[in-house]
Amino acid sequence: MAAPASDASISAQPLTLDGITHSYGGGLAVDNVTLEVKGGELVALLGPSGCGKTTLLRIVAGFIQQGNGKVLIDGRPIDTLPPNRREIGIVFQNYALFPHMTVAENIAYGLAARGESRSVQAQRVEEMLATVQMAGFADRKPKQLSGGQQQRVALARALAMRPRILLLDEPFAALDKNLRLDMQIEIKRLQRQFALTAIMVTHDQDEAMAIADRIAVMSQGKIEQLGTPVQVYDEPATLFVNSFIGSSNLLSGQIAAPVEGGYAVTLGNGAAWTVPSAARFAPGQPVLVSVRPEQMRLADEAGEGRFPVELKLSLPIGGELIHDVTSADGASLKIAMPRRPGMASGRSGTTFCGLADHARPVLFAAQP
Ligand SMILES: Nc1ncnc2c1ncn2[C@@H]1O[C@H](COP(=O)(O)OP(=O)(O)OP(=O)(O)O)[C@@H](O)[C@H]1O
Ligand SMILES: [Mg+2]
Repeated sequence: MAAPASDASISAQPLTLDGITHSYGGGLAVDNVTLEVKGGELVALLGPSGCGKTTLLRIVAGFIQQGNGKVLIDGRPIDTLPPNRREIGIVFQNYALFPHMTVAENIAYGLAARGESRSVQAQRVEEMLATVQMAGFADRKPKQLSGGQQQRVALARALAMRPRILLLDEPFAALDKNLRLDMQIEIKRLQRQFALTAIMVTHDQDEAMAIADRIAVMSQGKIEQLGTPVQVYDEPATLFVNSFIGSSNLLSGQIAAPVEGGYAVTLGNGAAWTVPSAARFAPGQPVLVSVRPEQMRLADEAGEGRFPVELKLSLPIGGELIHDVTSADGASLKIAMPRRPGMASGRSGTTFCGLADHARPVLFAAQP
């Protein structure tokens, strides 16, 4: 008997979206999206509701014929293939298990439809149940499973077909937080094990940061930025990406002068900061300086780069204290500082704030 193919023998295939454009009749739902997902890479599509994430996945899966552009797997166009011949595994939130079938029948469904023998089906079902750690559940019906277990079976059903590409659309949206974390780790493990090229849609930025190799941040049918989680968090390319990923304070100011590697900026609150930037700004130009809450600090006294603030509220959130402060120019800012055990709130009344060590503010042109 031939040994089952080892995982190492599965070669990951790149997925290319080349100028995909689609309209449902009204405006553009997907607007000229070009994206190269490398073999074995997991790219998260992250963006607000209605920005075109599901539309893009349905085009790749073959459920929607795009108006323009091409989808290629390993360099070969697949646009003329029906969904069931694309060798794409799909786990969509609304793509439920068949309720009248057992777990085993659900997992074997696609294999049976493809005409695989009963022994191949049985062997694959057993293998997949072990893979998603659900051995012993073969004869249950979906309604006898928890939400997380159902998602595992949905994943097993997709992987049983040995897909080249895995598409996940908000697969964990219905799960509670701890279960989500388990499933995120599970997906990452399986994606590596099966050398799958994958796209996962989410609007949970923590989820995208946690499991994606790269994140494509979408807005209004377009990719605004494609980069590693650290790149999109630390170096947001646009104001939209900046405000969509993580939380940040936007301070208004004016370019005072260019300096080595950036600009001297005079903030509206009077403080002078040096902000690194490779972009072009003119002296006097109005700008916005973005700083993450964890990159700001409160201080007891005035000092270079600090400005006075009024402390409104301090919230102990887990290991952090989140301070809500207002500066003299009326801006409301959030400052996150590590919380020592027992500490419920910090100072009160008037205090000062400035940049933490290693802070890396980001400069944007102020919108007219
Ligand atoms: N079948 C349809 N007919 C007409 N318009 C549609 C259809 N499906 C989606 N749209 C529109 O296309 C745009 C993109 O929708 P899509 O479902 O791709 O968004 P999404 O990013 O997945 O949003 P969400 O995060 O809410 O799931 C939206 O403006 C939506 O209203
Ligand atoms: Mg969607």
